[in-house]
Amino acid sequence: MLLKSFSVLFFLCLMLMLVTPRVWADEEMLILDNPEVFAKNKRPAVVFPHEMHMQMVDCLSCHHDYVNGQNTLDADMLEETDPAIRCAACHAGNKVVNLKDAFHQQCLGCHRQMRTSGHATAPELCGECHRR
Ligand code: HEC
Ligand code: HEC
Ligand code: HEC
Ligand code: HEC
Repeated sequence: MLLKSFSVLFFLCLMLMLVTPRVWADEEMLILDNPEVFAKNKRPAVVFPHEMHMQMVDCLSCHHDYVNGQNTLDADMLEETDPAIRCAACHAGNKVVNLKDAFHQQCLGCHRQMRTSGHATAPELCGECHRR
Protein backbone atom coordinates (compact mmCIF):
# COMPACT_ATOMS: atom_id res chain seq x y z
CA MET A 1 0.00 0.00 0.00
CA LEU A 2 2.73 2.40 1.03
CA LEU A 3 4.82 1.38 -1.92
CA LYS A 4 1.90 1.91 -4.19
CA SER A 5 1.20 5.46 -3.01
CA PHE A 6 4.92 6.19 -3.35
CA SER A 7 4.92 5.15 -6.92
CA VAL A 8 1.79 7.19 -7.56
CA LEU A 9 3.52 10.18 -5.97
CA PHE A 10 6.63 9.55 -8.02
CA PHE A 11 4.56 9.35 -11.16
CA LEU A 12 2.77 12.61 -10.33
CA CYS A 13 6.09 14.39 -9.71
CA LEU A 14 7.38 13.13 -13.00
CA MET A 15 4.31 14.40 -14.80
CA LEU A 16 4.64 17.77 -13.11
CA MET A 17 8.28 18.04 -14.14
CA LEU A 18 7.39 17.24 -17.71
CA VAL A 19 4.49 19.63 -17.88
CA THR A 20 5.67 22.75 -16.00
CA PRO A 21 8.44 23.96 -18.31
CA ARG A 22 5.97 23.98 -21.18
CA VAL A 23 3.56 26.11 -19.22
CA TRP A 24 6.33 28.59 -18.45
CA ALA A 25 7.52 28.63 -22.01
CA ASP A 26 3.99 29.43 -23.19
CA GLU A 27 3.70 32.38 -20.85
CA GLU A 28 7.01 33.83 -21.97
CA MET A 29 6.08 33.77 -25.63
CA LEU A 30 3.08 35.37 -27.25
CA ILE A 31 1.92 34.34 -30.68
CA LEU A 32 1.00 37.45 -32.61
CA ASP A 33 -1.61 36.40 -35.10
CA ASN A 34 -4.71 38.33 -36.13
CA PRO A 35 -6.57 36.19 -38.64
CA GLU A 36 -9.70 38.33 -38.29
CA VAL A 37 -7.74 41.30 -39.65
CA PHE A 38 -5.25 39.61 -41.96
CA ALA A 39 -7.70 37.35 -43.72
CA LYS A 40 -5.03 35.88 -45.93
CA ASN A 41 -1.79 35.80 -44.00
CA LYS A 42 1.16 36.37 -46.28
CA ARG A 43 3.65 35.61 -43.54
CA PRO A 44 3.78 33.09 -40.71
CA ALA A 45 2.56 34.32 -37.30
CA VAL A 46 5.15 36.05 -35.10
CA VAL A 47 6.51 34.43 -31.97
CA PHE A 48 7.11 37.34 -29.61
CA PRO A 49 9.25 36.90 -26.47
CA HIS A 50 7.00 39.15 -24.37
CA GLU A 51 8.49 38.24 -21.01
CA MET A 52 11.97 39.14 -22.24
CA HIS A 53 10.74 42.51 -23.51
CA MET A 54 8.86 43.13 -20.25
CA GLN A 55 12.16 42.94 -18.44
CA MET A 56 14.02 45.16 -20.90
CA VAL A 57 11.53 47.83 -21.81
CA ASP A 58 8.98 49.96 -19.96
CA CYS A 59 5.44 48.63 -20.45
CA LEU A 60 4.16 51.98 -21.65
CA SER A 61 6.65 52.25 -24.47
CA CYS A 62 4.55 49.57 -26.18
CA HIS A 63 1.11 49.70 -24.54
CA HIS A 64 -0.86 52.90 -24.94
CA ASP A 65 -4.25 54.50 -24.84
CA TYR A 66 -3.97 58.09 -26.07
CA VAL A 67 -6.26 60.83 -24.84
CA ASN A 68 -5.39 64.21 -26.35
CA GLY A 69 -2.01 62.83 -27.36
CA GLN A 70 -1.19 61.66 -23.83
CA ASN A 71 -0.72 57.99 -22.97
CA THR A 72 -3.23 57.51 -20.17
CA LEU A 73 -2.54 53.82 -19.45
CA ASP A 74 -1.43 52.83 -15.97
CA ALA A 75 1.22 50.10 -16.22
CA ASP A 76 -0.02 48.50 -12.99
CA MET A 77 -3.47 48.08 -14.49
CA LEU A 78 -2.38 46.18 -17.57
CA GLU A 79 -4.29 42.93 -17.54
CA GLU A 80 -5.20 40.29 -20.01
CA THR A 81 -8.86 41.27 -19.77
CA ASP A 82 -8.19 44.94 -20.51
CA PRO A 83 -9.59 45.75 -23.98
CA ALA A 84 -6.67 48.15 -24.52
CA ILE A 85 -4.19 45.25 -24.44
CA ARG A 86 -4.89 44.01 -27.93
CA CYS A 87 -3.30 46.17 -30.62
CA ALA A 88 -6.09 45.13 -32.98
CA ALA A 89 -8.68 46.66 -30.63
CA CYS A 90 -7.70 50.07 -32.00
CA HIS A 91 -5.53 49.50 -35.04
CA ALA A 92 -7.78 47.20 -37.03
CA GLY A 93 -9.37 49.54 -39.56
CA ASN A 94 -7.41 52.52 -38.19
CA LYS A 95 -6.71 54.91 -41.04
CA VAL A 96 -3.78 56.69 -39.39
CA VAL A 97 -1.79 53.60 -38.38
CA ASN A 98 -3.16 50.30 -39.67
CA LEU A 99 -2.46 47.08 -37.75
CA LYS A 100 0.45 45.93 -39.87
CA ASP A 101 2.12 49.34 -39.67
CA ALA A 102 1.41 49.50 -35.91
CA PHE A 103 3.41 46.31 -35.35
CA HIS A 104 6.13 47.09 -37.86
CA GLN A 105 6.63 50.66 -36.68
CA GLN A 106 6.80 49.64 -33.04
CA CYS A 107 8.83 46.43 -33.29
CA LEU A 108 11.14 47.37 -36.14
CA GLY A 109 11.39 50.99 -35.07
CA CYS A 110 12.91 50.04 -31.76
CA HIS A 111 15.06 47.23 -33.14
CA ARG A 112 16.53 49.63 -35.72
CA GLN A 113 17.15 52.23 -33.05
CA MET A 114 18.90 49.61 -30.89
CA ARG A 115 21.28 48.81 -33.72
CA THR A 116 22.04 52.37 -34.78
CA SER A 117 22.66 53.41 -31.17
CA GLY A 118 24.91 50.37 -30.72
CA HIS A 119 22.92 48.95 -27.77
CA ALA A 120 21.85 45.59 -29.09
CA THR A 121 21.15 43.62 -32.21
CA ALA A 122 17.50 42.66 -32.51
CA PRO A 123 15.73 41.08 -35.49
CA GLU A 124 15.07 43.27 -38.51
CA LEU A 125 14.79 40.66 -41.24
CA CYS A 126 11.35 39.35 -42.20
CA GLY A 127 12.16 35.71 -41.47
CA GLU A 128 13.60 36.48 -38.04
CA CYS A 129 10.18 37.52 -36.76
CA HIS A 130 7.89 35.64 -39.16
CA ARG A 131 9.26 32.18 -38.45
CA ARG A 132 8.12 29.12 -40.29
C1 HEC B 1 8.12 45.58 -26.60
C2 HEC B 1 6.71 45.85 -26.47
C3 HEC B 1 6.02 45.44 -25.20
C4 HEC B 1 6.42 45.66 -23.89
C5 HEC B 1 7.67 46.36 -23.39
C6 HEC B 1 5.38 45.11 -23.06
N1 HEC B 1 4.39 44.56 -23.83
FE1 HEC B 1 2.74 43.62 -23.15
N2 HEC B 1 2.26 43.08 -25.06
C7 HEC B 1 2.90 43.54 -26.20
C8 HEC B 1 2.23 43.00 -27.37
C9 HEC B 1 2.60 43.27 -28.81
C10 HEC B 1 1.17 42.19 -26.89
C11 HEC B 1 0.15 41.41 -27.72
C12 HEC B 1 -0.97 42.34 -28.06
C13 HEC B 1 -1.94 41.73 -29.06
O1 HEC B 1 -2.19 40.53 -28.99
O2 HEC B 1 -2.48 42.48 -29.90
C14 HEC B 1 1.21 42.27 -25.42
C15 HEC B 1 0.32 41.63 -24.58
C16 HEC B 1 0.23 41.85 -23.21
C17 HEC B 1 -0.76 41.27 -22.33
C18 HEC B 1 -1.87 40.31 -22.75
C19 HEC B 1 -1.31 38.97 -23.11
C20 HEC B 1 -0.79 38.25 -21.90
O3 HEC B 1 0.43 38.02 -21.78
O4 HEC B 1 -1.57 37.92 -21.04
C21 HEC B 1 -0.53 41.75 -21.07
C22 HEC B 1 -1.31 41.44 -19.81
C23 HEC B 1 0.62 42.65 -21.16
N3 HEC B 1 1.06 42.67 -22.47
C24 HEC B 1 1.17 43.35 -20.10
C25 HEC B 1 2.41 43.99 -20.14
C26 HEC B 1 3.08 44.56 -18.98
C27 HEC B 1 2.51 44.57 -17.57
C28 HEC B 1 4.26 45.07 -19.42
C29 HEC B 1 5.37 45.72 -18.63
C30 HEC B 1 5.89 44.99 -17.49
C31 HEC B 1 4.33 44.82 -20.87
N4 HEC B 1 3.20 44.17 -21.26
C32 HEC B 1 5.39 45.19 -21.68
C33 HEC B 1 4.00 44.35 -26.23
C34 HEC B 1 4.75 44.74 -25.14
C1 HEC C 1 -6.80 51.95 -27.04
C2 HEC C 1 -6.44 52.08 -28.43
C3 HEC C 1 -5.07 51.63 -28.88
C4 HEC C 1 -4.45 50.43 -28.62
C5 HEC C 1 -4.97 49.24 -27.85
C6 HEC C 1 -3.18 50.47 -29.30
N1 HEC C 1 -3.04 51.66 -29.95
FE1 HEC C 1 -1.42 52.22 -31.06
N2 HEC C 1 -2.26 54.06 -31.32
C7 HEC C 1 -3.54 54.41 -30.93
C8 HEC C 1 -3.79 55.79 -31.35
C9 HEC C 1 -5.06 56.56 -31.11
C10 HEC C 1 -2.61 56.25 -31.99
C11 HEC C 1 -2.32 57.64 -32.59
C12 HEC C 1 -2.50 57.58 -34.05
C13 HEC C 1 -3.97 57.54 -34.40
O1 HEC C 1 -4.66 58.53 -34.18
O2 HEC C 1 -4.44 56.50 -34.88
C14 HEC C 1 -1.67 55.11 -31.98
C15 HEC C 1 -0.40 55.16 -32.53
C16 HEC C 1 0.42 54.07 -32.66
C17 HEC C 1 1.70 54.10 -33.35
C18 HEC C 1 2.35 55.31 -33.98
C19 HEC C 1 3.46 55.82 -33.07
C20 HEC C 1 2.92 56.26 -31.73
O3 HEC C 1 3.15 55.56 -30.74
O4 HEC C 1 2.24 57.29 -31.66
C21 HEC C 1 2.19 52.82 -33.29
C22 HEC C 1 3.51 52.34 -33.86
C23 HEC C 1 1.23 52.00 -32.55
N3 HEC C 1 0.16 52.81 -32.19
C24 HEC C 1 1.39 50.67 -32.27
C25 HEC C 1 0.56 49.94 -31.40
C26 HEC C 1 0.82 48.58 -30.94
C27 HEC C 1 1.96 47.72 -31.40
C28 HEC C 1 -0.20 48.25 -30.08
C29 HEC C 1 -0.34 47.00 -29.26
C30 HEC C 1 0.79 46.68 -28.36
C31 HEC C 1 -1.09 49.40 -30.00
N4 HEC C 1 -0.59 50.38 -30.81
C32 HEC C 1 -2.25 49.45 -29.26
C33 HEC C 1 -4.43 53.64 -30.25
C34 HEC C 1 -4.17 52.39 -29.73
C1 HEC D 1 11.44 49.47 -27.19
C2 HEC D 1 12.29 48.49 -27.84
C3 HEC D 1 11.71 47.23 -28.44
C4 HEC D 1 10.46 47.03 -28.98
C5 HEC D 1 9.31 48.01 -29.08
C6 HEC D 1 10.45 45.67 -29.48
N1 HEC D 1 11.65 45.06 -29.25
FE1 HEC D 1 12.15 43.14 -29.77
N2 HEC D 1 13.97 43.40 -28.94
C7 HEC D 1 14.45 44.57 -28.38
C8 HEC D 1 15.84 44.38 -27.98
C9 HEC D 1 16.73 45.41 -27.31
C10 HEC D 1 16.18 43.05 -28.34
C11 HEC D 1 17.53 42.34 -28.23
C12 HEC D 1 17.80 41.78 -26.90
C13 HEC D 1 19.18 41.17 -26.88
O1 HEC D 1 19.43 40.26 -27.68
O2 HEC D 1 19.97 41.64 -26.09
C14 HEC D 1 14.97 42.47 -28.95
C15 HEC D 1 14.91 41.16 -29.42
C16 HEC D 1 13.83 40.61 -30.08
C17 HEC D 1 13.77 39.25 -30.59
C18 HEC D 1 14.89 38.22 -30.53
C19 HEC D 1 14.80 37.48 -29.24
C20 HEC D 1 15.96 36.56 -29.04
O3 HEC D 1 15.78 35.57 -28.35
O4 HEC D 1 17.05 36.84 -29.55
C21 HEC D 1 12.54 39.08 -31.17
C22 HEC D 1 12.01 37.84 -31.86
C23 HEC D 1 11.83 40.34 -31.00
N3 HEC D 1 12.64 41.24 -30.33
C24 HEC D 1 10.56 40.58 -31.49
C25 HEC D 1 9.86 41.76 -31.29
C26 HEC D 1 8.50 42.00 -31.76
C27 HEC D 1 7.68 41.02 -32.55
C28 HEC D 1 8.17 43.26 -31.34
C29 HEC D 1 6.86 44.00 -31.55
C30 HEC D 1 5.66 43.34 -31.09
C31 HEC D 1 9.31 43.82 -30.64
N4 HEC D 1 10.31 42.88 -30.62
C32 HEC D 1 9.34 45.09 -30.09
C33 HEC D 1 13.77 45.74 -28.21
C34 HEC D 1 12.46 45.98 -28.62
C1 HEC E 1 10.56 42.81 -35.60
C2 HEC E 1 9.62 41.82 -36.06
C3 HEC E 1 9.13 41.88 -37.50
C4 HEC E 1 9.88 41.98 -38.64
C5 HEC E 1 11.40 42.06 -38.76
C6 HEC E 1 8.96 41.95 -39.74
N1 HEC E 1 7.67 41.84 -39.28
FE1 HEC E 1 5.98 41.66 -40.42
N2 HEC E 1 4.85 41.68 -38.73
C7 HEC E 1 5.34 41.63 -37.45
C8 HEC E 1 4.22 41.47 -36.54
C9 HEC E 1 4.33 41.39 -35.03
C10 HEC E 1 3.06 41.41 -37.34
C11 HEC E 1 1.61 41.14 -36.88
C12 HEC E 1 1.42 39.64 -37.06
C13 HEC E 1 -0.01 39.18 -37.12
O1 HEC E 1 -0.85 39.74 -36.43
O2 HEC E 1 -0.30 38.23 -37.90
C14 HEC E 1 3.48 41.55 -38.71
C15 HEC E 1 2.62 41.54 -39.81
C16 HEC E 1 3.01 41.45 -41.12
C17 HEC E 1 2.12 41.31 -42.25
C18 HEC E 1 0.59 41.27 -42.18
C19 HEC E 1 0.13 39.89 -41.78
C20 HEC E 1 0.28 38.89 -42.90
O3 HEC E 1 0.89 37.84 -42.63
O4 HEC E 1 -0.21 39.14 -44.02
C21 HEC E 1 2.88 41.21 -43.38
C22 HEC E 1 2.42 41.04 -44.82
C23 HEC E 1 4.26 41.33 -42.95
N3 HEC E 1 4.29 41.48 -41.56
C24 HEC E 1 5.36 41.29 -43.79
C25 HEC E 1 6.68 41.51 -43.40
C26 HEC E 1 7.81 41.59 -44.32
C27 HEC E 1 7.71 41.46 -45.83
C28 HEC E 1 8.92 41.82 -43.55
C29 HEC E 1 10.34 42.06 -44.01
C30 HEC E 1 10.53 43.19 -44.91
C31 HEC E 1 8.49 41.84 -42.15
N4 HEC E 1 7.13 41.64 -42.10
C32 HEC E 1 9.33 42.03 -41.08
C33 HEC E 1 6.65 41.69 -37.06
C34 HEC E 1 7.74 41.79 -37.90
